[in-house]
Amino acid sequence: MSVTDNATNFDVREIRRAFPGLRPDLARFDGPGGSLVPEVVADAVAGALRVGLCQRGGPSAPGLLTDEITLGARAAMARFLGVDDRRGIVFGRSMTALTFDIARTLAAQWGPGDEVVVSRLDHDANIRPWITAAEHAGATVRWLDFDPVTTEPDDVRSLLSDRTRLVALTAASNLFGTRPDVAAVSRAAREVGALMYVDAVHLAAHAPVDLTAMGADLLVCSPYKFFGPHLGVLAADPALLERLHPDKLLPSSDAVPERFELGTLPYELLAGVRAAVEFAEQCDMAAVEAHEQQLLTRLLDGLGDMAAVTVHGRAGRRTPTVLLTVDGLTPVQASHRLHEAGIVAPAGSFYALEAARHSAAGEQGGVRVGISAYTDDEEIDRLLAALGALSAT
Ligand SMILES: Cc1ncc(COP(=O)(O)O)c(C=O)c1O
Repeated sequence: MSVTDNATNFDVREIRRAFPGLRPDLARFDGPGGSLVPEVVADAVAGALRVGLCQRGGPSAPGLLTDEITLGARAAMARFLGVDDRRGIVFGRSMTALTFDIARTLAAQWGPGDEVVVSRLDHDANIRPWITAAEHAGATVRWLDFDPVTTEPDDVRSLLSDRTRLVALTAASNLFGTRPDVAAVSRAAREVGALMYVDAVHLAAHAPVDLTAMGADLLVCSPYKFFGPHLGVLAADPALLERLHPDKLLPSSDAVPERFELGTLPYELLAGVRAAVEFAEQCDMAAVEAHEQQLLTRLLDGLGDMAAVTVHGRAGRRTPTVLLTVDGLTPVQASHRLHEAGIVAPAGSFYALEAARHSAAGEQGGVRVGISAYTDDEEIDRLLAALGALSAT
């Protein structure tokens, strides 16, 4: 499939043909909750199930195939995240589960007087595990706030000290789309000797991700947000993973990264991960970003004319994810009305509870409109027409 070579010949019609879940009567703006899956990914998962896999290792053909699937998925994710060595890729049940696990492991080395920094811009999965771990260790939590209008985070430096052990920050807000300057925060964290933990779950669907360029020590994402199956990935320099000792079963491998992977991996899903990465590579994430940003401009221009619609968050650099509210309607009502018009755009705060509370949207959040690689101009126009009709009533 030659989906695209660069941003100039990105062919959204061809991309759309790859997704069996797309229907002409339903415009899907729910990608931030999980993208649709291309046929090749579904085939890879089904193919792995059909072939009769078994546990990794051993001399049998199925064992070798399971090995190949696992190592292939690690190599694919390493490429996708800009990690040099596939031993730096850990698979887990979800980003949330991986973060709770790694937080517990890291916090075993923390004590009273140590500090961790979490941000109000983040999904709760990059907040609560750190608060819980800090509480158990007797460490102190410091909050990085953000401007409620621009949704840009404050300067982190005032929160850092030589007792800061870790800074946790999102690479992109799943509520407002804000893309903080993660590289600058990482540099500041490094200066005080703190680890940088980056949540790239939302960003990974919308732009190339590079762990090294971001200065992240640990980075997490979830393939189901970028065309893949439901599981989580943690990436790090293997040398860092070697220094950490998670809870594990006695007979299970103590090698890196296996020592972080509890129980048997979902091998069929790993086959899907590799296919998802290969699909993203064929699309070219830089071309996806350019396509989506063009649609975002079309959407924001159209919304600018609607006095009854409020767009929350005006970040300079952002993903094409827009939180909006409509005068006279609760977010849930607005979402239902959009659904009646053939548009899927869910309502809520999407576990970015602190972010919603800290913004004018408040705890109930808003309608979240997520543009994906497979979104086209016609769907944006349909959405604008439906929102125009809603705000006129
Ligand atoms: C920004 C962000 N971080 C973390 C998560 C949690 O990911 P998972 O479902 O893999 O635990 C999500 C899920 O929506 C998210 O959007």
